[in-house]
Formats: sequence, C-alpha cells, structure tokens
Amino acid sequence: FGQYPEQTIVQRPMVAAHRGVPSLAPENTMAGYRLAYELGADQIETDVQRTKDGHLVVIHDETVDRTTNGTGAVKDLTLAEIRALDAGIKFDEKFAGEKVPTFKEYLQEFKGKNVMLLVELKAHDVEEQTIQEIKEEGMMDQVVLQSFYLDSMQRSNELAPELPGGYLFSSAVPSTLQEKLKNAKKLVDYGTINDVTLNSSYGSLYKEFIQYMRQRGMLSMHWTFRAEPPFADKLKDGLIGPITDYTQWLTESPVQL
Ligand code: G3P
Ligand code: CA
Repeated sequence: FGQYPEQTIVQRPMVAAHRGVPSLAPENTMAGYRLAYELGADQIETDVQRTKDGHLVVIHDETVDRTTNGTGAVKDLTLAEIRALDAGIKFDEKFAGEKVPTFKEYLQEFKGKNVMLLVELKAHDVEEQTIQEIKEEGMMDQVVLQSFYLDSMQRSNELAPELPGGYLFSSAVPSTLQEKLKNAKKLVDYGTINDVTLNSSYGSLYKEFIQYMRQRGMLSMHWTFRAEPPFADKLKDGLIGPITDYTQWLTESPVQL
C-alpha cells in the first residue's frame, strides 16, 4: 500500500465471492468460481443441494428454471439429468456449456489453494453428506459451513465441531428478528461457532450485533453487498467483510480508514 502516507491505516476487507462472481459470470458455475479465485477472493460462496439420486450439487434455487435451460426441482431430477443442462447460456452465450457443478468438483478445484470455501447448506438434511465429502477431500481446514437454519447449524456442529459456522439472517426465513437474534446467541453460547454472517438490513441492530460478536472474538460478514465501496464505517464497527456479487470492486482497491 505504498501510495498511502505512513500514518494511514489501510485495510482490505475479507471478501467472499457470492455464488462466484455473478456480475461477470453465471452464478454457481466453475467459470464463476475460477474467476472469483483469479480476482483474489478470500472466500468463495456456494449453495449445496441434493439430487433425486442422492448426489450433492451446487445451485441456489430449489429449481433449475432460472439459471439453466431446464425445468424442475433439483430434488426431483437425477444427477445425469441436471448435468445435461446448460448453466451458462442464459447468462451469456460465451458461457454456453457450463454445467451445474457437483459439490465434489467445486471442492477439488480449490483443494490446497489459498482460498476458503463458504458452503451454504441450502437444504435440510444435507449436513452429514456435505461434511463427509469435505472430509473425503481432506479439506476440513478450508471450509466454513453456513445456514439460515438453527437446526442445520447445530447438527453440523455436532458432526464436526472443528468446522467454523456462519448463521445467516434473512427476512425471507419466517421468524421474528428477536427469534433470530436469540438463535444466534444460542449458537454463540453453544461454543464453537466462530463466524456469524449477518444481513445488514436490520439497521441499528447490525452494529449492535457486530459488536456483540466481536466482543466474543467472532467475525461478522455482510450479504449481499451490491453497492459501491467505501464501507469504511462498517469496517470500523467491526465488520470483517462483505459477501458480494462484485468481488472485482473489493479485491482491487484497499479501503482507507
Ligand atoms: O452467503 C449469504 C447468502 O448467500 C445468503 O443468501 O439467498 O444468496 O443464498 P442467498
Ligand atoms: Ca448462499
């Protein structure tokens, strides 16, 4: 950071590439994940679901309709059916031929590389298989598991207490704000959760909760970051970093505090 005077504190946030880099490449595809890595993301986020025949794939929606040229629910399609779909062409013809990746493919691509994988358990009951596949790849030190669901977080924690976890807040998941906060505190009290991811839409609570976590030595992330930097105030509050669709904005320039 040679261009700044010595007394200036410069901090680059920890950047999580949300579903890859969906502002530049089709979401949740290998092309998008690779781009995130090339751009210098610290974490690459994805969403895990299970096919009809029991394979883990990475895709956000419950159906393949929005992101591929097919239709139907992920849980009602076999892996072969899903792999036959094109997950790139709707975004741009130049991405034609991109497939819905398997979870293994995503893990293997980044195994041993200098990046963390932020893995969201999108469906209930995928905790065990997800953790098993991470273990099979020997990547327990390279993954953070996150979920909107308290039961998924608790189950994951029972199965693999060494894995960091992120508890997601969203107005889309039906519970009151008080209940969400209570759940998050429960996870904190549970002992080993060391990474909590927050939705920033809760105004003052955001700052209060970041600080609550920080006092306990835990991290707060913010999703989904789709506005231009700077966000120095949030970093001052203790935010560690954004989960963003625009990795390219954040890894290229440091934030001046
Ligand atoms: O990582 C947080 C974020 O991915 C949660 O929302 O809907 O994009 O999975 P969603
Ligand atoms: Ca997600």
